[in-house]
Amino acid sequence: MMRDFEGKNGVMQFGGMSTVDIAEEFGTPVYVTDENIVRESYRRVYNAFSRFMDTEIHYACKANTNLAILTILEQEGSHIDAVSIGEVLTCLKAGFTPDRILYTGVNVSRDELRQVVDTGCRINVDSEGELEKLADILGDRCKGFPLSFRITPGVASGHGTKVMTGGKGAKFGVPYDRVMDAYARAKELGFDIKGIHAHTGSGGNTVDPFIDVVEVLIDFANRLRDELDIHLEFIDFGGGLGVPYKPQEEECDVEDLGATITDMILEETDVKKVCLEPGRYLVCDSTILLASVTDVKDAGTKLYVGTDIGFNTLIRPAFYDSYHHVALANKFNKACTAKYDVVGPICESGDYIAHDRILPDPQEGDLLVVYNAGAYGFSMSSTYNSRPKCKEVLVKDGKAELIRDAETMENIWRHQIVPERLRR
Ligand SMILES: Cc1ncc(COP(=O)(O)O)c(C=O)c1O
Repeated sequence: MMRDFEGKNGVMQFGGMSTVDIAEEFGTPVYVTDENIVRESYRRVYNAFSRFMDTEIHYACKANTNLAILTILEQEGSHIDAVSIGEVLTCLKAGFTPDRILYTGVNVSRDELRQVVDTGCRINVDSEGELEKLADILGDRCKGFPLSFRITPGVASGHGTKVMTGGKGAKFGVPYDRVMDAYARAKELGFDIKGIHAHTGSGGNTVDPFIDVVEVLIDFANRLRDELDIHLEFIDFGGGLGVPYKPQEEECDVEDLGATITDMILEETDVKKVCLEPGRYLVCDSTILLASVTDVKDAGTKLYVGTDIGFNTLIRPAFYDSYHHVALANKFNKACTAKYDVVGPICESGDYIAHDRILPDPQEGDLLVVYNAGAYGFSMSSTYNSRPKCKEVLVKDGKAELIRDAETMENIWRHQIVPERLRR
């Protein structure tokens, strides 16, 4: 079931606070994260696996790179899945040591790879070309340099085609039929081969795709041992653990997942460590997005609720057709009146947050809440239509703190240059 929250005197409560009070103090739009939920989610998934075997949770920080949230996960003992030098540097800034960061790029430039090497973090190689580039950069330092490969497992899953990454022919990973050759080449170059990694996609609520991908990884781990005398330290089966976005949607059963996957690895291989890379699972339902109703329009064939959030603030509905539950936080659990499309201030007809939602008589000034906004929410936001990015707030046990201030027009203009000759 989707995580829902209490109402008190008709007002939605979040993190021990009234959402109306939060909106009054910080304004809208604002992303609000409950610290306790982030910590609970981390512990739930970590315990589900570590009960059985040595486990590393690599938080896929692309989901949410706010420094305060990274700091919370650093305190919990998380590791990091980083996909860019920017993410690596952000995680170092948040206090992660390089050995707790595994960098997995795709189509990585030589320059970026050199910068990543300089940070000292671990590297998961995505292609044969990247391996050769890395070897060039390292020279003699290849000997004993820890390395793993991302492979294309031929298993795809996810909430939509844009987030399915593991299918045959995908742009990610070393293609299935060349995996053994890639490992043989890495061995020849003298690398210290530590593991194997795959990611099938994002947002699945069932255990099956994870079982399928782990079967593939187990098969390779055993072939690497038998054919190349390579003994892997870890199997990393990626992220993608889903979170219910709809009220009645089923949850991903992480207890079952932990028991099943660790049993497979322990029974069928000599590998002693399992790694997984949840992004969404750790941060998605920890966060709501609060917005103001700015206008209500009867367009004849449709009723619209206009708000101060569009796809600049939350792109998932427009980009992936994703469902986000919405409600009026100041008329919480009030009887609903009619069906509305919830839309934003962006000048595009594709700018929407939710279609056909029954809401309780929305009026200008009402407070709209968007659920499950913590993953790929702020981190995918933009300044399109010259709208500065919004604030982020952290709540814990009834107290709220600003963890990102709103941008201003200065942020938008700062790096632009009008050539002198154009100036009068
Ligand atoms: C390689 C890799 N690992 C982990 C993730 C995290 O996925 P999720 O947030 O669905 O757990 C992604 C998402 O794109 C990914 O590409």
